[in-house]
Amino acid sequence: MPTITTLIFFLLGLSSIFSVCFSTNILSLGKKNSDRLLSSAVFPLKGNVYPLGYYSVSINIGKRDEAFEFDIDSGSDLTWVQCDAPCTGCTKPREQLYKPDNNALNCFEPLCTSLHPIADHQCESADDQCQYEIEYADHGSSLGVLVNDNVPLKLTNGSLAAPRITFGCGYDHKYSVPHSPPPTAGVLGLGNGEVSIISQLSNMGVVRNVVGHCLSEEGGFLFFGDELVPSSGVTWTRLSYESIGSYYSSGPAEVYFNGKATGIKDLTLVFDSGSSYTYFNSQAYNAILALVRNDLSRKPLEDAPEDKSLPICWSGTHPFKSLHDVKKYFNPLALRFTKTKNTEMQLPPETYLIITKYGNVCFGILNASEVGLGDLNIIGDISLKDKLVIYDNERQRIGWFPTNCDKFRKEGQSLCRPEGIFSILSENYQGYIPKVF
Ligand SMILES: *[C@@H]1O[C@H](CO)[C@@H](O)[C@H](O)[C@H]1NC(C)=O
Ligand SMILES: *[C@@H]1O[C@H](CO)[C@@H](O)[C@H](O)[C@H]1NC(C)=O
Repeated sequence: MPTITTLIFFLLGLSSIFSVCFSTNILSLGKKNSDRLLSSAVFPLKGNVYPLGYYSVSINIGKRDEAFEFDIDSGSDLTWVQCDAPCTGCTKPREQLYKPDNNALNCFEPLCTSLHPIADHQCESADDQCQYEIEYADHGSSLGVLVNDNVPLKLTNGSLAAPRITFGCGYDHKYSVPHSPPPTAGVLGLGNGEVSIISQLSNMGVVRNVVGHCLSEEGGFLFFGDELVPSSGVTWTRLSYESIGSYYSSGPAEVYFNGKATGIKDLTLVFDSGSSYTYFNSQAYNAILALVRNDLSRKPLEDAPEDKSLPICWSGTHPFKSLHDVKKYFNPLALRFTKTKNTEMQLPPETYLIITKYGNVCFGILNASEVGLGDLNIIGDISLKDKLVIYDNERQRIGWFPTNCDKFRKEGQSLCRPEGIFSILSENYQGYIPKVF
């Protein structure tokens, strides 16, 4: 559900330095792991919060092994890709069209019925194809038919899996920003509902029902399975009971500003990688903005209403080049999860500010009430950056572990080998011992 992808479309020609990954010697472990251990799959990500506003992964589908670019979305379940069919609101990459091959799901199949509330499920004959329509919290939508196809996955244990995955072949799309077709060929639904790719992979015994991402200014990585989860040092909070089976939410949480309680409490927070920015309900938003503004009153920053990149922007005496130039003017926020002891998510200025192309600094926390989200609070990409974020559906919990997600880009080949990933993570955390290897 709540996916508020603020779509700003420039496609930066970020070439993946991972293209050679796995193409040569696939790791073989040499020692026998116990049969219970399931493997994982790791993918490099492209994207950023600003100016792109999304993170995407390239995933191959089908016999012809065609690559499609997907927006990663922990706020929704259904994965869909642009269908090679007459379309409205067609996605932008015109060469990335999925050709269905008589592989539509029948409308009586369980994954089809799981998507439809019983009352409106029109399934007249056993030959009917499974139609789907999903609407996102920002009122965008996708309509199409569900299909089944092989998705080849290179696992960290060296095996190649080709599970048959159910996803949508979409031909009718609407967006919150008019006339802005998405720059990706589809959406990868990472939620915890039945149709989510991670639920499907875990039901087939390919990986455990755990998914995670590490987002950075330059991309980062995504993983399925639990092998990359550090055995200690992760801060965990329980998934809210009502969120299980739909999206990832946790709480209640209280907001701290510069180490002090703000009185903003009882927030339920949705973790949504499909949202570029963070949203608070209007009461919390008003209070946080007032605190930030109050701090700025003695600093050389002025309102910059002419910069429309985001609703609230400030300019300095000179244009800013990076967040490094401004973070001294801002204090850290933190979210304290009040039901579990010592469970806090730090939100330093880098996780709630952006520097625009005009050299101003803008407030990356937005007013949920203003965009029709009501009382929802959404932790978006901007605040999920620079952390390994783990959605653990085996144990109904969410965890985070501060780390430098960029190092993977610089040491590209490390992604090919799990022990490379472990060595990078372990640099940030002394007590970390790789769980599996
Ligand atoms: C790798 O893991 C998968 C399950 O995740 C398993 O089916 C496969 O047999 C494993 N391969 C090796 C070489 O251990
Ligand atoms: C946030 O949105 C609500 C509803 O539109 C509005 O009443 C409130 O003034 C907004 N807050 C700010 C600081 O603009």
